[in-house]
Amino acid sequence: MGTPGLERHKQLVEKKIASLVDGLDAPKTLKESMAYSANAGGKRLRPLLLLAVLEALGAPVEQGVGTSAALEMIHTYSLVHDDLPAMDNDSLRRGVPTNHVVFGDGIAILAGDGLLTFAFSVVAEDRWLPAEVRLVLVSMLAKAAGPMGMIAGQILDMEAEKSPVGLLQLKNIHKNKTGRLIEFAVLAGALIGNANEQATQLLEGYASHLGLAFQIKDDILDVEGTAEELGKTPGKDATSQKSTYVSILGMSGAKEMLESELSSARQALTRMEGMDTDCLYGFIELVGGRNN
Ligand code: IPE
Ligand code: IPE
Ligand code: MG
Ligand code: MG
Ligand code: MG
Repeated sequence: MGTPGLERHKQLVEKKIASLVDGLDAPKTLKESMAYSANAGGKRLRPLLLLAVLEALGAPVEQGVGTSAALEMIHTYSLVHDDLPAMDNDSLRRGVPTNHVVFGDGIAILAGDGLLTFAFSVVAEDRWLPAEVRLVLVSMLAKAAGPMGMIAGQILDMEAEKSPVGLLQLKNIHKNKTGRLIEFAVLAGALIGNANEQATQLLEGYASHLGLAFQIKDDILDVEGTAEELGKTPGKDATSQKSTYVSILGMSGAKEMLESELSSARQALTRMEGMDTDCLYGFIELVGGRNN
C-alpha cells in the first residue's frame, strides 16, 4: 500500500474509525476492546477499495469515508469473532494478541457485536449522503454481511472442516465469506459515485474475481507465510483440516486459480470506458503480490 494516494485514504479512514469509537458514550471496557481491534491496523483493503472506486468515477472521496469506516468495522468484528476459541481459535491478529486473549471471550464477543451494530448507525447517520442513498447502503451492507452473505460463508466454512467439499462448493464458501464484503466495497463506491448501470455491472465482475482471488491468496499464505509477515498464525487451515483451494487443488493448482481470477479481474477493467481505472489495477497487483 505504498502510494501516496492510498496512504492519504488510509489515514482518512483510520482517523474516522478512531474518532467514531472514541466518541461512543459506552462502557469503558467495551470501548477499549472495540478500539483495540479497530485501531490495530490491518491492510484496510475494503475501505481503500471503496474510496478507489470513487476516485475512478471522479467523485469526492470524502463522501465515502463514513461508509468505508463502517465497512471496516464490520470486517474487524468478523475477525474478532473468527478468532474466538469456538471458531478458529487464533491467538495472533494484525501482529498483536487476539481480542479474546487480551479481554476474555465474553468481552471479545460483545466488542464484535458493538462494532457490527455501530457500523449501521454510522451509515444511517452519514450527513455526506442523501437519505435515500444511506437507506440503500444499509440494506446492501446487511445483505453482504448477513446470513445470505458473509455469515453464510462462515458457517459453510466451519462445516467444511474435516469433511472435504468439492471445488464448486468451495468457490461458494469463498464467494460469501470473503467475496461479499469486497463486492460491497466496490458496489457502495459505484452507488455513492453515481456510476451508470453498465459501469456498475463491470465493477461487479471486477469485484467478484478480486474477492475470490483475495481468499485464494489467504489460503496460500496460510501455508507459505510466516507469523511475522502475516501478523496472524500460519498453518491454521491444515491444523483444523479446513477445505481450502490448497487442500483441494494443491499449491500449484491454487496458484493457477489465483492467476486466472486476477486476469479475469483485469479483463473486466479493460472494458471500462471513461473511468480512471489505474488504481483499480493497483488492487489486482496488490492482491496477487501481497505477503500479509
Ligand atoms: C483476513 O482479512 C480475513 C479474510 C477475509 C481472508 P484481511 O487479510 O483483509 O485482514 P486485515 O484486515 O488486513 O487484518
Ligand atoms: C475469515 O476467513 C473470513 C472472515 C472473517 C469472514 P479465515 O478464517 O480464513 O481468515 P483468517 O485466515 O483467520 O484471517
Ligand atoms: Mg475462519
Ligand atoms: Mg480464521
Ligand atoms: Mg485464512
